[in-house]
Amino acid sequence: MASAEIRIDNLSKTYGDLTAVDAVTLDVPAGSMVALTGPSGSGKSTLLHLVGAIERADTGTVTVDGLDITALRRGALSRYRQSIGFVFQRYHLLAPLTALDNVIAPTLPYRVPYDRVTRGRELLDAVGLAGREGAVPAELSGGQQQRVAIARALMVEPRLLLADEPTGNLDSRTGRQIIDLLVRLRAERGTTVLLATHEQHVAARCDRIVRLTDGAVTEDLDLLEGESEQETLARVTTLRP
Ligand SMILES: Nc1ncnc2c1ncn2[C@@H]1O[C@H](COP(=O)(O)OP(=O)(O)OP(=O)(O)O)[C@@H](O)[C@H]1O
Ligand SMILES: [Mg+2]
Repeated sequence: MASAEIRIDNLSKTYGDLTAVDAVTLDVPAGSMVALTGPSGSGKSTLLHLVGAIERADTGTVTVDGLDITALRRGALSRYRQSIGFVFQRYHLLAPLTALDNVIAPTLPYRVPYDRVTRGRELLDAVGLAGREGAVPAELSGGQQQRVAIARALMVEPRLLLADEPTGNLDSRTGRQIIDLLVRLRAERGTTVLLATHEQHVAARCDRIVRLTDGAVTEDLDLLEGESEQETLARVTTLRP
């Protein structure tokens, strides 16, 4: 399965007087799993929104597999958005729809070369929700709703998965199950994963941790293969609260 390479060059985004993302330059190799950390308001969500082309940058470029997405016009922009997966912090599930219909919904406007229901069921199975296809969000726990949101993001077989605090609203046990799931999906599918988190145990499961402070990259650390979570936490001061 394809994985995307991201190159972010001198990217900035301001809201009025406030610089939310400040001249960020960052390369994310294909197939890697990178955690964005940093205090509240440091620009993690804004950076994800820029990479996902949900918001437009003021200056700088984001290149995904050689394509400068900051220069795309409407048609190409919507094709790009369709080709990636985005997991929002608060799930954003449609309340009246079943889990299966939530997973399938984003593909409904498009012609697709696969059977939606079959793929939707396979993905719900892959995230551990076999048998709950017919449940509506209100009948699911927070962790289950987040699994539905992850399955939905995977529906398009994305080469890039962007996840904003994927464990943010979950208790720590459920949060561990979700990060286990993301680590496994990345290993199985090769998807490039860029996620924002303020949880050290989540960041410690990635290949690399990029810390933002006031919108700028202030630390960029590769985690060591074979190093345990405890060893990582002891070595990497960034991860300490
Ligand atoms: N749509 C917006 N309009 C105005 N200001 C915004 C908007 N979105 C974000 N900001 C501001 O930009 C800065 C960065 O916000 P952002 O949401 O990216 O931070 P964050 O690191 O994701 O924080 P958190 O950890 O709380 O989710 C903050 O000061 C925020 O108030
Ligand atoms: Mg945020």
